[in-house]
Amino acid sequence: MSDATDTGDGKLQSASEMANEIASAARAPFAEPALLAKAKELVRALAVSHTNAGLYPTTHPLVSRSLSELVGAVQALRVAGFDSITINIHKHTLFVENQVFPEESVTYRKTITELLACGISAVTFVSTFALRDATALIDALADDSVADLEAVQRLFERRGISGVEVAKTTMLEDAGHERSRENKIAARQTYDVGVETMRDVETQTKLGKVFGVEPLQHLVSSMLDKLFRDPAAVLGLTAIKGHDDYTLNHSINVCILSLSLGASLGLDSTSLRSLGLSALLYDLGKVRIPEDILNKQGPLTTDEWHVVKSHTSEGADLLKRIQLVDEMPMVVAYEHHQRHDLQGYPAPQNGQEQHLFSKIVALCDAYDAMTTRRPFRREIRPDKALAVLMQGRGKAYDAALTKSLVAMLGIYPMGAVVQLDDDSVAVVFRVNTDDLLHPRVKVLADPAGRWSEEPEVLDLRLVDPETGGFARSIVDCVPASDAGIDDVWQYL
Ligand SMILES: [Fe+2]
Repeated sequence: MSDATDTGDGKLQSASEMANEIASAARAPFAEPALLAKAKELVRALAVSHTNAGLYPTTHPLVSRSLSELVGAVQALRVAGFDSITINIHKHTLFVENQVFPEESVTYRKTITELLACGISAVTFVSTFALRDATALIDALADDSVADLEAVQRLFERRGISGVEVAKTTMLEDAGHERSRENKIAARQTYDVGVETMRDVETQTKLGKVFGVEPLQHLVSSMLDKLFRDPAAVLGLTAIKGHDDYTLNHSINVCILSLSLGASLGLDSTSLRSLGLSALLYDLGKVRIPEDILNKQGPLTTDEWHVVKSHTSEGADLLKRIQLVDEMPMVVAYEHHQRHDLQGYPAPQNGQEQHLFSKIVALCDAYDAMTTRRPFRREIRPDKALAVLMQGRGKAYDAALTKSLVAMLGIYPMGAVVQLDDDSVAVVFRVNTDDLLHPRVKVLADPAGRWSEEPEVLDLRLVDPETGGFARSIVDCVPASDAGIDDVWQYL
């Protein structure tokens, strides 16, 4: 049971409205306007130095001035907290660190082309960057005999340059492909073990027996370890929607989402373990609700609704009997439908507020429930589900937490199936935290509807150098089943 449908009836925000709304919660390195200006100045100073050096001798005052400005731009970023800073170029699109700079990708095309002609797709300015380093970099670009990366590196070595480094970018390549595959498989094993562990908990509880909490604690620890090692491998698991074992899959998904959200908020590991355990057990009270009521298609009678609502206090009661040292699972089981504005159930005792963990679990419960197909209703597209949560912020859900969840998942979360502007169909493979509207996708079907054996990975941040617009964009998000995809997880 989630509060998902009880969030008011106003108009849902569009994807770009949501992106603007949560900009402050997103993790772009240059989200702050002042920092963004400094990064833009670095790119400008590099391009102007390059242009001037092509027009005048290195000794010309205009060249010296632009080189000084380049050194100044690096210093300004160092003062702002960047010990080193990398400009990356991927397919003619310019990134500072991992943030895309679409305008600069077009304006400074000449410099980008020249860097690529020298085999350079990453330039790192380190903290000691000085005038001699700037001069060497610009000399290398201007020197026709320096035609590849090794030649630039040799030139730097000859001159004893250490304030700037050049390389081929690995930023957008799947460099750790094998490792991420291993992590993905290990995460899936933990998931499958988790489903069996929860099945056992459910069976024992239905039989009126006491279940052991150790396997659950072990499951949470194992999930946390994997989450810290490879967040995408673990978060991608929530794309698994077991239609037969909805309750079991749902509790593992809520646990993963809650742990990820808690980690993104900076909770310590003891708190995260407690949160994870609470997220596995918050709906335990449902085992005491007759299944014909739980799965009823159509509206519930007043009496039936009363029974359904009792799963919160029943859950707390069950957990009390287990005598857990940690009382948070009991608190969350009791509070998870109270809503942020305390207009839910059970009615709060005087002065009681919903605990942070209950708020996190309530949000993650609603998101996963909405995005899963049930026998009595279709799934909601991930972007729409997030819009519904955003609509309920400050009411059913804590506003800051809701924004953090959207920032963590992205407007188009991993596993979302999207239609691109050339009519091809793709699945969101990785979210770009600096640009939630332009994730990395795997193109599954071309514009003619032909399915690909080896889906191409495409970064939607890439800019068309002719127009300055994004090369390809998402026009719509579609339910996976409509696109004929049964198991989205396989593509992540
Ligand atoms: Fe519930």
